[in-house]
Amino acid sequence: MLKVKKSGAELSRIVQIGARLKQLSGESGQEYLPLNRGVNMVAPIDLRPVVAEVDFNGEAIQVYPPGAGFARLRQVIADRFFAGQTEANRILITAGGMNGLDLIFQTLDVQKILLPAHHWGSYNHILTIRGVAGDTYRSHAELENRLPELAGCAVLICDPGNPLGEKYDDREQFRLLKRLNDAGAAVIFDSPYRRLFTDEADDYYAQLTGLPGVVICESFSKSLGLSGQRIGFIHSMDEALNRELAIRLMYCTNGINGFAQELVYRLLTTEVGREEVLRFQERTRREIAQNIALLRERGLLAEEFYTEAEPEGLFAVVRCTEQELLAHRIGSVSLAFFTRTDKERAGRYARICVSFPHAKFAEYFLPVKPTI
Ligand SMILES: Cc1ncc(COP(=O)(O)O)c(C=O)c1O
Repeated sequence: MLKVKKSGAELSRIVQIGARLKQLSGESGQEYLPLNRGVNMVAPIDLRPVVAEVDFNGEAIQVYPPGAGFARLRQVIADRFFAGQTEANRILITAGGMNGLDLIFQTLDVQKILLPAHHWGSYNHILTIRGVAGDTYRSHAELENRLPELAGCAVLICDPGNPLGEKYDDREQFRLLKRLNDAGAAVIFDSPYRRLFTDEADDYYAQLTGLPGVVICESFSKSLGLSGQRIGFIHSMDEALNRELAIRLMYCTNGINGFAQELVYRLLTTEVGREEVLRFQERTRREIAQNIALLRERGLLAEEFYTEAEPEGLFAVVRCTEQELLAHRIGSVSLAFFTRTDKERAGRYARICVSFPHAKFAEYFLPVKPTI
């Protein structure tokens, strides 16, 4: 028997739910909607026209990539995500958001990292594995009240959020981030969903470059539908942090997959790539909005969670339990899975992915009634 350093973290419950749905579907011969998942399911982005132009025998694909990522990809991110208001050397290409968060959590020297009361379970697991202390905040107003005790801590903001899918007003949120920054707190701005809903005209990240305490963790998994490619980026204004992140990234990856980098570069810069991105995003956004509107009309949306922010993201919380939805052949994840402080109340709600074809979504939700 080998001796193992056990972290105490666990694998995701969402994967287990997926396996259970497959089993139930196999036994009954009926389809179960996989709304437990966290990916865009309206329609995949069509990569074929972009891939057709890739030179698979070129250096970009065949040789080790630079440790911090392709220089041209970092530059295009600086230009298109930051309106040219930052420099490419403040951007680090990562193997997706999870890899980025892990690097940030292990590298920031802070007393603790505060998570929102309802949050993506993986944050806790990374904290556990890296031995970093965690804490919770219930609202933005609470953070404002606690400002003096937050110096030397980090606050994680996820916007649009997972599991609630809530989107805060940018201007109000910026004011909060500025106050946190000025109070000496670091802010980890985890935002893999934002770019699905905004385009190059969005100057929010450019504004955030004025707050040196803010570290942005981004991903192409959701905004470009590339969760299979494992690619994202970190942006920080702090030189010392960037240097250490680059070292740690190098010694856990030896560079990020060249094909994934080439693909993202072409999606962001070539005419065919940009057309496909636009088509994918427009259709996805439209059907997400239709699904949220339907939940609202039917009294199924848990409005009580959307008092400070609007339901807009990839997810929504509904007034039914995971088991009740399962009886209607709809996969979901109990909200209790996304909180450490509020489990009993949260168990009466479920999180669903609303990035799903509207017609089928409407058909499956037709007989569903709110139970709260
Ligand atoms: C809130 C949040 N942050 C980050 C990620 C990371 O995604 P990825 O590792 O695919 O980039 C996810 C994925 O579901 C997420 O929900």
